[in-house]
Amino acid sequence: MIIQIQPWIDELELSELKKVVDSTFVTEHDLTEEFEAMTRELTGSKHALAVCNGTMALFCCLKALNIGPGDEVIVPNMTFIATANAVILAGAKPIFCEIREDTFCIDTGRAEELVNENTRAIIPVHLYGQSADMDEVISFARKHDLKVIEDAAQGVGVRFNGRHTGTFGEMGILSYYGNKTITTGEGGMILTDDDALARICYRLKNHGRDAKGIFIHEHIGFNFSFTEMQAAVGIAQMKKLSAIIQKKKEIYQRYMDELSGLERFRPVHIDERCEPVFWFTSFLSDDTDELAKFLLENGIQTRRFFYPLHLQPCYKEIDGLAASSYLLQESEQDLVIEKIKEFYRV
Ligand SMILES: Cc1ncc(COP(=O)(O)O)c(C=O)c1O
Repeated sequence: MIIQIQPWIDELELSELKKVVDSTFVTEHDLTEEFEAMTRELTGSKHALAVCNGTMALFCCLKALNIGPGDEVIVPNMTFIATANAVILAGAKPIFCEIREDTFCIDTGRAEELVNENTRAIIPVHLYGQSADMDEVISFARKHDLKVIEDAAQGVGVRFNGRHTGTFGEMGILSYYGNKTITTGEGGMILTDDDALARICYRLKNHGRDAKGIFIHEHIGFNFSFTEMQAAVGIAQMKKLSAIIQKKKEIYQRYMDELSGLERFRPVHIDERCEPVFWFTSFLSDDTDELAKFLLENGIQTRRFFYPLHLQPCYKEIDGLAASSYLLQESEQDLVIEKIKEFYRV
């Protein structure tokens, strides 16, 4: 079976993990700081704070910006559901905005009609490895005096106008969940250039304290800490990031070379200002169900796009296919290409 996505984990992760075992420091310590420093270097963000996952990273950003009950936050209607649930966890209301037909990222033109006196922020999501139009998002936010929190959970290594995703707005987040470009199993990162916001986020993740080992708590905080085991895996993954990005580019290019020109199976448009990292290579198909079934019968897994938020059963009131692991072998990609061509009889 050619599975949708598979992390590249080997002896490098093991050797970094051995350092943790040898040191006996398992909770956040030097390796976490090293991983944060590597993230600052990658993204250019002044601050990078590791937290337990991307969802809690989003929650911390919202809390740090003092967004809560009575506030509204604009989110794209197509994203992984955590984007909207973090807003709900903060006590605010997510407002679903139409996405663009070409890139599937938020359509700020359609966000105009959603702004009212309660709107406090917008969360653009950098979907499937390409960036939202950050020129438009930032000018929209400035026009309406909104905060920008970028959900770059899927945006590690992705750049727009040469700048890393997650660094355009007041705050941004990355995720290191198992299926992301690089992984720490679970894990997230908060990005910001703002010293005060970074400090609030540190307190939120560390029981309201400015440092560990203090037992008088000036603020209310929680525990969203990272671990040294995650950091060890993250450091090893970060060392592999340029190889992962290169391989993903090659996989994407080969799909484009071999499968372009099919009328009923079209690649998603890439904004030319964006340097994508294809977390998944995405296609629009007019035959999604039949093609997915045919490919599965031939040992090839795919997945549909995220389900629109406004149709999610859990949000009562208020398509396409993808696949591309770093570990994808050329022979496996041959099979995917062959079967798609066979399906379309070309
Ligand atoms: C767009 C998006 N936002 C948020 C998240 C949440 O990240 P995490 O799984 O690390 O909590 C994910 C992925 O999991 C995601 O894809």
